[in-house]
Amino acid sequence: MRILSGIQSSGILHIGNYFGMMKRMIELQEREELSVFIANYHALTSLKDPKILKKDTLDAAVTFLSLGIDPEKSTFWLQSDVKEVLELYWILSSFTPMGLLERAHSYKDKTAKGIPANHSLFSYPVLMAADILLYDAQLVPVGKDQIQHIEMTRDIAIKFNNQFGEVFTIPNFSVDENVQKVVGIDGEKMSKSYGNTIDIFSTKKNTFKQVGKIKTDSTPLEEPKEFEGCNVYEISKLFMNENELLELEERYKNGGEGYGHFKVTLRDKIWDYFEPHRKKREYYLKNTDEVKDILDFGANKARTKAQEKMEIIKSKVGIAI
Ligand code: ADP
Ligand code: TRP
Repeated sequence: MRILSGIQSSGILHIGNYFGMMKRMIELQEREELSVFIANYHALTSLKDPKILKKDTLDAAVTFLSLGIDPEKSTFWLQSDVKEVLELYWILSSFTPMGLLERAHSYKDKTAKGIPANHSLFSYPVLMAADILLYDAQLVPVGKDQIQHIEMTRDIAIKFNNQFGEVFTIPNFSVDENVQKVVGIDGEKMSKSYGNTIDIFSTKKNTFKQVGKIKTDSTPLEEPKEFEGCNVYEISKLFMNENELLELEERYKNGGEGYGHFKVTLRDKIWDYFEPHRKKREYYLKNTDEVKDILDFGANKARTKAQEKMEIIKSKVGIAI
């Protein structure tokens, strides 16, 4: 099965990104044909500071590599290094009805949150369709918020195929039923753009601070507490096995401990969970030339496939004469 997914480099990656998409991708590379890229052109739609964009892009690559993406087993590259994706983006734009884009939730959400409504933000789903269709992806693992984008990709591909024959593979999405939406420290969806994240890699001080800020109710320390729906518990679920979770539930039910105590358990758990990857991260941060070489290597692999596909597409639509 050809599996593909990407992640925007528009901020420091957080545990929502990890459990929503990255973890599954890393596991899948052992048995499937995997393509993963850093979507820096997508990040440009909302991030306009060049220094930060460069830093976040490199950091996203380092984070993925530290967590276990293996550039020999998978194809791992930087979106902007394969220019064919922009050619396809333009061609697909000509086959994408305005009405389809006007229905996009993410555009409405982002502009409602104050991100300026520019054209690239509006046509974001078309570039995403190009990312997926260029490489004939069959399955796209994503978090719940991205489902509509995959559905739009399918609509665009089906419309195109109806006119030109079976050019594109129609992709499916996969969402982890257990981790559809990781909550942020404020109880809303965790997102880089909402400032409510717990980062995968940070200083101990900052990780502890982020966990310390998780919103809870004000049940007094001595009283029993409701664990279902408690943000600390919901995040703890991601890091604990069944026994640990049962133990935590007992502590909630017994009373005599405050949310601060549960937060201490959680912050230590998070710190230990990512500990095995910290050395690798330090290594890549010190050897960024090696990271760039790895991305180049991946882009070369991806480009070969992209160029073959573009020849077919350009001939079909009448661009290559
Ligand atoms: P963000 O909202 O932080 O900008 P992205 O849109 O870059 O995150 O998402 C990258 C991947 O991580 C996508 O597959 C997305 O669905 C997933 N993801 C992001 N936030 C969450 C979350 N809170 N819960 C589950 N998955 C998430
Ligand atoms: N829009 C995705 C996100 O915010 C990132 C992305 C860009 C992507 N192109 C993609 C994901 C193609 C899957 C497939 O997370």
